[in-house]
Amino acid sequence: MSSYSNLSKRSIVPLHSSVQQIQRCRAPQNPGIPQLPDLSDIQGDIFYVFPKVAEQFMFFSIKDVSAFKKNLGSFTPTSSINVSEILEKINQAKETARNNRTPLCQVDTSLSQIAFSRAGLNFLGVKELTKDTNFDKGPMKLDRQSLGDNASWEKVFEDGSSHGVFTIAANSTLNCQKKALEIENAFKSSIIILHRENGQVLPNHVEHFGFRDGISQPAIKGLAAPHPGQTVVDPGIIIMGCTGDPIAGRPAWTKYGSMMVFRKLAQDVPGFNNYLASHSEDWRKILPQANLTTPAEGSAWFGARCFGRWKSGAPIQLAPYRDDPALGEDNERNNNFDYTVPRLSEPNEYFCPFNAHIRKTAPRNLLNYRPNKQELADSSIVRAGIPYGPQLTPTCPQNAERGLLFVCYQSSIKGGFLLQTQWALDSSFPVVGTSIKDHGQDPILGVAPAAPGFKPQSFVTSKGGEYFFVPAISTIKKWASATGC
Ligand code: HEM
Repeated sequence: MSSYSNLSKRSIVPLHSSVQQIQRCRAPQNPGIPQLPDLSDIQGDIFYVFPKVAEQFMFFSIKDVSAFKKNLGSFTPTSSINVSEILEKINQAKETARNNRTPLCQVDTSLSQIAFSRAGLNFLGVKELTKDTNFDKGPMKLDRQSLGDNASWEKVFEDGSSHGVFTIAANSTLNCQKKALEIENAFKSSIIILHRENGQVLPNHVEHFGFRDGISQPAIKGLAAPHPGQTVVDPGIIIMGCTGDPIAGRPAWTKYGSMMVFRKLAQDVPGFNNYLASHSEDWRKILPQANLTTPAEGSAWFGARCFGRWKSGAPIQLAPYRDDPALGEDNERNNNFDYTVPRLSEPNEYFCPFNAHIRKTAPRNLLNYRPNKQELADSSIVRAGIPYGPQLTPTCPQNAERGLLFVCYQSSIKGGFLLQTQWALDSSFPVVGTSIKDHGQDPILGVAPAAPGFKPQSFVTSKGGEYFFVPAISTIKKWASATGC
């Protein structure tokens, strides 16, 4: 039984509230429960996701391998078990505040994780392949074309020169900066900091277009308590070397690791808002029974069709005409849907277009067509990104840069992130019949279709990114103590 009842708004809630409970479940004699990984050995952002208000990604290159190994030996990243304990503390703080009717006492957190690029592993002397072909072949820039990235990338990503990245998260910007400084000092003799990205959670956990994010996440079998409708996946879909890992025969040092995809995605918020306004009358043709009364309602409806959810997070499949904030907030209901419509036997877009962002990246049910439920579960990713840049307000400059520091974890980049990106960019995806139909690209990740009198536009521009391997904590310790790798 979980004791995380006050975290019900969190999409990923640990199933176990103590180390002892987890150890009991890990026992091989426990029937019906897949053998669980060792949570004290897995870095903390991978599947429980760091609770955070601020986050820094510190990209570095190694200047001195032996000094780096020495520094690494003294570095203790936050483990998954640490994260579940912190979540329990937050849960208790909320309970105390509620019972005593006192203001919530903030739980101070400073969390960190380290990950390496292929170039970083090679530099450390770890030349063996992880068997993830996208990671092993080199930097993300080699996949630039298939990712649909046409704009110029920032130098650090263009160069593909990072050896690794520290992910530092905290409950305040100040604590995040303090932790970043502590790590910087600890590794002063061995690394060069190439680049930093700073993110900040926006009020109500929205991304910059104003839509609540982080609702649909996979729950790992045996480790997370699934909310109704949440996809439950084998641990190996996210954590290497566990049940369900699609890639066999990996080297032992990859066990309990994961692949981290980092993308810097700039968002054109004024452009997106204008685009929605230019479509504010579309409901009259598409869903006249919505009976909307103002252009603002029409724009909001069109925006919801782009995402498949309203700004509150309410899925349009369940709330087709107007936003329903109570539904959006309620994690027991906001993910409990698929795209079937009673009395319609074929996959259809009666309420949600095939190309809405959440339907492109996870089409949920396609009856007899592909991808089926199992394929969908197998392509799951854990999303752990954070917005960057100032929120657009009446006083904030329209042209300030803002966007999403997108992060996702999976055991296979090709089966997770790349597959979903291909789906998003493929106009004919999903296949919903015997002949190919053009549904258009994902309006968030692809090029949005042109409204009359407008050029086709993209509201999200990639500034680059990188693939990283997040090793198990025991692997880090081994590398730290090895004289040669
Ligand atoms: C700036 C870029 C992006 C924005 C603004 C954005 C925003 C959102 C929002 C608001 C949701 C709905 C909330 C939720 O269901 O959690 C969502 C869901 C999702 N997004 Fe994105 N996203 C972006 C990029 C990406 C990328 C690059 C991918 C992967 C290739 C991705 C994959 C997903 C997935 C898998 C879901 C959940 C779908 C489901 O299970 O129903 N997103 N995104």
